[in-house]
Amino acid sequence: PPIVLVGAPVEAGAGRRGCLMGPDAYRTAGLKEALIQLGHSVSDLGNLKMAPVQDISHSNPVLKNLAEVTGWTRALHATAADLGVKPVFPVYMGGDHSIALGTVAGQASAAAAKGRPLFVLWLDAHSDFHSFETTESGNLHGTPLAFACGLPGFPDLLNGLPRHPVDPANVMILGARSIDPHERDLLLAHDVSVCDMRMIDESGVAALVKPFLERVRAADGLLHVSLDVDFLEPETAPAVGTTVPGGATFREAHLVMEMLHDSGLVTSLDLAELNPFLDDRGRTARLMVDLTGSLFGRRVFDRPTRSF
Ligand code: ARG
Ligand code: MN
Ligand code: MN
Ligand code: MN
Repeated sequence: PPIVLVGAPVEAGAGRRGCLMGPDAYRTAGLKEALIQLGHSVSDLGNLKMAPVQDISHSNPVLKNLAEVTGWTRALHATAADLGVKPVFPVYMGGDHSIALGTVAGQASAAAAKGRPLFVLWLDAHSDFHSFETTESGNLHGTPLAFACGLPGFPDLLNGLPRHPVDPANVMILGARSIDPHERDLLLAHDVSVCDMRMIDESGVAALVKPFLERVRAADGLLHVSLDVDFLEPETAPAVGTTVPGGATFREAHLVMEMLHDSGLVTSLDLAELNPFLDDRGRTARLMVDLTGSLFGRRVFDRPTRSF
């Protein structure tokens, strides 16, 4: 299906500024052109606007930029619910990871309308599994996966519209290496599959991703992939505010993307947390474009070469 790029210039969910430049950095790095080069038809909807919000409040005093994050969540939810029922492949160009409060909820609403289960692959150093009650930093980019899974402890982010929670059994987190105590308890209580770096070191990414993709296929599911820049090793991908050493390598990340492409199962994608203010001559933006290219079919040869 045609690819639709959606700009989400959001930085209100992160602890430092700069992610609002993410969508433009992807444009400068040639995301659209790279996908066209691969034979796809691609359109860019431009940057979304935040929905106006007056009515939101929460008792946790540490929450940062609640109204702004809520406004973006509502705008992204509406866009994703709409694109999700159309024959297109949406790519949400963030923006910090709070964009996934809206994108996953919207894709889940669309999946429910189609009567198909939504699966989520969360590629991240973090689990982003806080509720608005458990976050200690108040940075709301630490909450979207818990919201997607229907956990309690959230205000009415969707303005009265129904939540369509993703079954926590349909979620896999890959690359985890920084999880707060409350998140750990919630992940265990909801029995989420968390593949940390040790598991990647011991098994390799392919052996971890394969059974997940088989589950998606067997369930005739839709698959949303949420890629946080900090999934990657910071030396490889420095343009992110929440670096954690010991991340996925260049090759591991490409292999995941190549396997996702070969599966044919992915139906929507978030590109989250790119902070161009922290980049080194655009190399993280270009790497994210290249990884997206692998997800959309880039390979060295389009058929096997002679084998011995
Ligand atoms: N768990 C930490 C927090 O709640 C870090 C979250 C980082 N999330 C992200 N999307 N980069 O503040
Ligand atoms: Mn994240
Ligand atoms: Mn609905
Ligand atoms: Mn992260």
